[in-house]
Amino acid sequence: MESAPTTSASHTVNPLRSGMRMQRTPPPCTVVIFGATGDLTHRKLIPALYHLQRERLLPPGFSVVGFARRDWSDDYFRESLLQSARRHSRSAIDDDLWRGFADGCSYIRSAFDDMRGYAELARRLDQLDSERGTGGNRLFYLATPPEAYGEIVQRLGASGLNRSPNGGWTRIIIEKPFGSDLTSARTLDHAVHQVFEEQQVYRIDHYLGKETVQNILVFRFANGIFEPLWNRRYVDHVQITVAESVGIEGRGGYYDRTGALRDMVQNHLLQLLSLTAMEPPVGYRADAVRDEKVKVLRAIRPIEPSAVGQAAVRGQYGPGAVGGVPAPGYREEPGVAPDSLTETFVALRLYIESWRWAGVPFFLRTGKRLPKRASEIAIQFKMAPLMLFENGPLSGIEPNVLAINIQPNEGISLRFDSKVPGQSNIIRPVMMDFRYNAAFGVESPEAYERLLLDAMLGDSTLFIRSDEVEAMWSLLDPVIEGWSATTPPVFPNYAAGTWGPASADELIALVGAKWRRL
Ligand code: BG6
Repeated sequence: MESAPTTSASHTVNPLRSGMRMQRTPPPCTVVIFGATGDLTHRKLIPALYHLQRERLLPPGFSVVGFARRDWSDDYFRESLLQSARRHSRSAIDDDLWRGFADGCSYIRSAFDDMRGYAELARRLDQLDSERGTGGNRLFYLATPPEAYGEIVQRLGASGLNRSPNGGWTRIIIEKPFGSDLTSARTLDHAVHQVFEEQQVYRIDHYLGKETVQNILVFRFANGIFEPLWNRRYVDHVQITVAESVGIEGRGGYYDRTGALRDMVQNHLLQLLSLTAMEPPVGYRADAVRDEKVKVLRAIRPIEPSAVGQAAVRGQYGPGAVGGVPAPGYREEPGVAPDSLTETFVALRLYIESWRWAGVPFFLRTGKRLPKRASEIAIQFKMAPLMLFENGPLSGIEPNVLAINIQPNEGISLRFDSKVPGQSNIIRPVMMDFRYNAAFGVESPEAYERLLLDAMLGDSTLFIRSDEVEAMWSLLDPVIEGWSATTPPVFPNYAAGTWGPASADELIALVGAKWRRL
């Protein structure tokens, strides 16, 4: 007897597995920003909060308390926020809306180690609870230089601000960088866990808030046709590029101590890699997703310090021109040592030792002052096993590539080979292309909008867990060690406005591949 035909609707949705949320408004709460006079607050956090207000996603009574050292009044704070919201917001500021938002903003002047400031903060928060109905719900945001994190966390604990009164919640968002190596990350984590439970802690990596990055999991796991190809049988190699045309934008002091490996690879690039390579999680929930991400990070073959030269390349830009505009060399930037050995470019070759990925190289590259701003994840597939058509160097046949364009020009494209119309078999690669703006016609929210909202809603799926931080540092510590033990290349080794040092091309050429031209 024939079995009953299966229907195309045989998929199941288990509501317990699906954490996909509908639009929700968080409960009334206060966001306390440490480092409220700084760049991050002005360029990213306040424009993001204002936009959430504009979209009616903030709760009634929503309040912001700025906490920083400068001698500012409430009015000066609000005025300064308005000026930067005007400059950095993705849409024009509506005066009435802004007034409503600014009414909830106030400022506390204090050094980060001064307990009197925390006592005043406690009083202010109680006052907001009673006057604006914020219900004891507090979200602390560490937007200060990282050196201050430990101190602030310790003082929050000492003043009892790590627990909420009246059954409310208390959470803390910690900006990157989380430590500068494994040891310092563990020390910071220890300090944080003395005061906060892990589920109160939201370690931010703003790349996870980008629409295109969230879409990696949707693309992979909401579609049936890609996942069967997503493995060593079909994938030749993967290239993850985060290219920036900007230099260090006045952040010489920070950057010269940090470098591209810590600034970009340890967080943004490794997060992109883990989303690309992870196994399907058992559900779309914070711990299920993060369990799979951390497994991938742990499965990356360690790079021995003595073998770092075979797996990692570093570069530093010299003078040049980006988009026709002359650009100074890195060593000429303010705040940078004239003989600095800090890298502004990194390329890595990594292998993930899992059944899915064994033998497939993952290439990562990032750099400042490259020819353009372009970030993508490119999955390059193997060639067809047997070629019916002439496939010499002039044949035009190229391997299939699936490119996830993170920014700008957000989208996904698939390259495949096609016959050029005509009487002969000329073959040329063509593109199947999806662009967000053409498909949806709406502007994507900024990463910080999504992440702030998620933290207020208590959803930590798009935040980094402490074991992920450790796994990322564990992988990169030997690179840092290997680099400090060996003579660096002669810096500068690439001109501003070029695609990095020649050694990056050699790294990928070892497996017979080339970096994609973006
Ligand atoms: C930050 C780095 O985390 O990310 C910066 O510190 C970098 O150096 C920035 O420029 C890039 O972010 P985006 O969203 O502009 O790609």
